[in-house]
Amino acid sequence: MTSNNNNNNKNKKTALKKLVVNDIVSMKNNEKISVITSYDYWSAKICDNTGIDIILVGDSGGMVMLGYNSTVPVNMKEMLIFSRAVSVGTKRSLIVSDMPFGSYQIDIKHAVKNAIRFIKSGSDAVKLEGGIEIIDRIKAIIEVGIPVMGHIGLKPQTTKLWEGYKVQGNTAVRGSQLLREAIELEKTGVFAIVLEMVTSEVAELISKSLKIPTIGIGSGPHCDGQVLVLHDMLNLYDNIKPRFVKTYTNLSEVILNAIQSYIIDVKTGKFPEEKHSYKIEDKEYERLVKTIKKIQKKSHSRPAPPPPPPPISEKRKND
Ligand code: KIV
Repeated sequence: MTSNNNNNNKNKKTALKKLVVNDIVSMKNNEKISVITSYDYWSAKICDNTGIDIILVGDSGGMVMLGYNSTVPVNMKEMLIFSRAVSVGTKRSLIVSDMPFGSYQIDIKHAVKNAIRFIKSGSDAVKLEGGIEIIDRIKAIIEVGIPVMGHIGLKPQTTKLWEGYKVQGNTAVRGSQLLREAIELEKTGVFAIVLEMVTSEVAELISKSLKIPTIGIGSGPHCDGQVLVLHDMLNLYDNIKPRFVKTYTNLSEVILNAIQSYIIDVKTGKFPEEKHSYKIEDKEYERLVKTIKKIQKKSHSRPAPPPPPPPISEKRKND
């Protein structure tokens, strides 16, 4: 009995051990890495309790939380609020925050400064979209001690501006370009790379060529891990529905039904019931009734109170 209890406690402690970047890297070739997005305290708490490996505070939050029509408008202030809330709700998972568009493009100093703000808000690492063109900024952020996750293939912050959301790595030239970028990012020191909407074959080639893990989204089954946007998998966001999304439940419908039941309960007086209310003690209630009766009696026997004083402006007129 005691030894079972001890084992349970030991397991609980192991389960609660905060994951660090090296834990994620060492999962390559041993265990697939599970990644989900979250942007607030309550959903982060649920995600963390599931044992998910990485919680990504994605810039997709701009779309699914704030209703923007792409990830471009979301800014540092908004992303920092998301990141802070997620960090408060997370005990075990590694938290990676997306650096939003405009927060790392200007120059190295600006990029490092913003990456530091994410770490101060409770994130464990940052993710930047881009390859060779932003290597100097990735290098500088890593040099100050901040772990960086890369992101190549479809880069929603900028790809959308040029060609829209299109499959990446679908020709020999583009596939080899992606492989070169991935190798370059690995050399620079990123601890993992997101491959978004990359053809399955190219994603497999890249995954096999790197020592660091790849995290796929719409990039086939051969990546070292997978990421999904929480709102997509729960069917809480249906403005865009890419083919790579798998919906695990229809939470929109569950929420809609729950709120409709609540409305009916309120309108029909079914809610709140006595069990949802607070009671005054019988003795106190009797005293209250007596006090009220006394007050009422006194106010009936008293002469009518004088009329209220005129408003100041009127008083002045009479003075
Ligand atoms: O913002 C996000 O959710 C992402 C994932 C799609 C990888 O970057």
